[in-house]
Amino acid sequence: MAPVDPHSYTDGAHPVTAHAALAFYLDFSASAIHASALLTLSAPHSGDLLLDTRALAVHSAATATAPADPIPFALAADADPVLGSALTLTLPPDTTSFLLTFSTSPAASALQWLSPPQTASGLPFVFSQCQSIHARSVFPCHDTPAARITYSLLLNLPARLSAVAAARHVARRDPVPSDHRGAVPSDLWCAPGRIVEEFHMAQCVPPYLFAFAAGAIGSRDLGPRTRVYAEGGDTLLDDAAREFAGVEDMVKVGESLFGPYDWERFDLLVLPPSFPYGGMENPRMVFLTPTVIKGDAAGAQVVAHELAHSWTGNLITNKTNEDFWLNEGFTTYAERRIVEVVQGEERAALNMGIGWRGLNRMMERFKDNMEFTKLKPKMAGIDPDDVYSEVPYEKGFQFLWRIERQIGRPAFDEFLKKYIATFKFQSIDTETFLEFLKANVPGIENQVDLDVWIEGTGIPPDAMEPDSATYRKICTLAAEFKSGKIPSEDEVADWSGQEWELYLENLSKDVESSQVIALDERYKLSESRDYEVKVAFLQLAIPTGCRCYFNEVEKCLKQVGRMKYLRPLYSSLAKCSEEEKMLAKRIFSEAHEFYHPIARSVVESILSKHG
Ligand code: BES
Ligand code: ZN
Repeated sequence: MAPVDPHSYTDGAHPVTAHAALAFYLDFSASAIHASALLTLSAPHSGDLLLDTRALAVHSAATATAPADPIPFALAADADPVLGSALTLTLPPDTTSFLLTFSTSPAASALQWLSPPQTASGLPFVFSQCQSIHARSVFPCHDTPAARITYSLLLNLPARLSAVAAARHVARRDPVPSDHRGAVPSDLWCAPGRIVEEFHMAQCVPPYLFAFAAGAIGSRDLGPRTRVYAEGGDTLLDDAAREFAGVEDMVKVGESLFGPYDWERFDLLVLPPSFPYGGMENPRMVFLTPTVIKGDAAGAQVVAHELAHSWTGNLITNKTNEDFWLNEGFTTYAERRIVEVVQGEERAALNMGIGWRGLNRMMERFKDNMEFTKLKPKMAGIDPDDVYSEVPYEKGFQFLWRIERQIGRPAFDEFLKKYIATFKFQSIDTETFLEFLKANVPGIENQVDLDVWIEGTGIPPDAMEPDSATYRKICTLAAEFKSGKIPSEDEVADWSGQEWELYLENLSKDVESSQVIALDERYKLSESRDYEVKVAFLQLAIPTGCRCYFNEVEKCLKQVGRMKYLRPLYSSLAKCSEEEKMLAKRIFSEAHEFYHPIARSVVESILSKHG
């Protein structure tokens, strides 16, 4: 056994899946997919082959050439809590492709099934979120970003619904018996009132970028290669179209900075409020939380980030989760370069300031576990969802910014373009990046302490706090709050959500509840429609023991399932007195069905950690 990835059973001595032909029958009444997968290997193989699965029921395995000849298979009985269950197939000599049939569990970690009362349209909805290691709960695969696949996807669904995927849409058509390859009986597959949506992904992608959604989805065109989709009706679509009107221009900015946009289309899908992230860079079809639609163009930052992944993350991918900074650090850097062009230097500096605060906060969070302050942490036995943090984003950003300062922007830009052109459609590790850096920037290892940056814990001494007039002004105002000063109306007149976020996150944590209440009376932050502001405020208020905000905390936790908000709010409550703990438990027991399974398990682990 030659492990390639601490988060996968994939054996490096064996070939991996190169192509997956997937046929999914979406069973909304059972919250399950009944499926077949025809998997083609990168080379012929004989004997044992290991695949990743989680909570899948595997029904059959056979070679593609002799469908009647079953392949022996075994699904490990006791699932590993992080990895899931290895599926071992014993392949006949020189097998290149084989067919599996299986069903997903209603508890599949990647999938959220929303029942009609939980959606805006009153029709059912389902969507996937596979990063980091949840693709294996949808289909058996080599679920490591080291193994890239192309795939075709047939989604069989009720004809009153439609579907999108992170792949080229081929057709919406009637089902035919030759589609399903045994996923379900033909009469079910071809039943009246069912439709097939057909997709094809011809570019190789890591399995975590596999994505689809199905429901009452409408759309609005934004530009020649951009469109926004959403479930939720005309008003939401109109708001979304207004919010994202500038997306085509942003793609052009990305191309000018990083080279051609290689994915043909850049569409957006606005998900229901339970979407667990701000955005997910699924290729051709970025998934977004509806909370970014605020009418103040702040959503542009999240879109810039997910767009930037089209180059950093999707073209060049981290080989394992230990190299996650290659995805998120580069993308945070690239995002800020796009923001700088589209929204100006001040805005970019403000984003950097918010990031800097976040990075410093993480040093506190991980003070007893400094491994996770490293750019390349050891991840064996660790669930990536449990240690998700700003470190790979902001320390990664700081590292690249440090190199930029050393060699100057023109040289760094040239380096970046060459890096992308050299490794596109590959999955690489940190060592490969470092070799490329040293080869293309001779002497860099004598100017920047690469070991300290990559292997060291904490924030390296040559990291830099960003600076700009707005950033400095906000930090000063935040420092004055300690002596009782609340900013005047004039001082905050032109503040948007991000200025407030930075201000609130810079306030000292040992403030009095009376001060917090006074601030809120003046600016109504606890009721802000901007969740970044609202959550930053509530996070400040909870530890002061101010019970008057319980109501707003509860509303917030029940309305939005984005983990960026759930994590700090549940953690603050869980760290407080018994009353807050009880509140957290009650809210979770009432809200958990609304959360995505990934969010559900993250909150569960927060609550159990604090007893
Ligand atoms: N790829 C991430 C989201 C992610 C990371 C999902 C790890 C699962 C595991 C995405 O690109 C991201 O970073 N989203 C941020 C956006 C922000 C940095 C602008 C988010 O969701 O908050
Ligand atoms: Zn990202």
